[in-house]
Amino acid sequence: MEPSLLPVGIVTVSDRATSGVYEDLSGPAIREVFTQWLATPWRAEYRLVPDEQPRIEAALVELADVQRCPIIVTTGGTGPAPRDVTPEATVAVCDRVLPGFGEQMRAVSLRSVPTAILSRQLAGTRGSSLIINLPGKPAAIAECLGAIWSAMPYCVELLGGPKLAFTESAPRYHRPSP
Ligand code: MTE
Repeated sequence: MEPSLLPVGIVTVSDRATSGVYEDLSGPAIREVFTQWLATPWRAEYRLVPDEQPRIEAALVELADVQRCPIIVTTGGTGPAPRDVTPEATVAVCDRVLPGFGEQMRAVSLRSVPTAILSRQLAGTRGSSLIINLPGKPAAIAECLGAIWSAMPYCVELLGGPKLAFTESAPRYHRPSP
């Protein structure tokens, strides 16, 4: 591990991926999007946890407080099924919720899939970390990250994080003029 690399938290929340019923495809999809769009040298801090609120909270707290990840992305557990508790875990560890992220991701997702309305995905802050929930579908990853990418770097800066650099293929970002 190279400590000077920017740590990006990637948390897959899935009972079945954790127990080996199937392979996690969404976590690697997040890694792929960051590889394509983030030019700042970075490293993935990957965690795979079951749909259990204390386990999700522990992973988020460790990534924020110990690993000091400016960005933490979760995937899975955002729906209405009884074991979907990722938004609850996120709210429990966050200082503040940023409702616009969930609204924007759902708005963009609804253009391609009507069941996007079922996702309770949200974002919030814990200290200097921005935590973003994504649905568990691999197809949702690039779509949802693309929906909020333009506002993400400024948010990271407002939280006291680094000024991020992006590749040519990344969605254009917006930084308000001073
Ligand atoms: N958003 C996008 N962009 N693409 C999708 O396929 N699936 C929806 C929704 N949001 C989907 C999406 C479905 S079917 C569900 S049940 C919810 O996300 C919650 O998914 P999760 O419980 O895996 O987080």
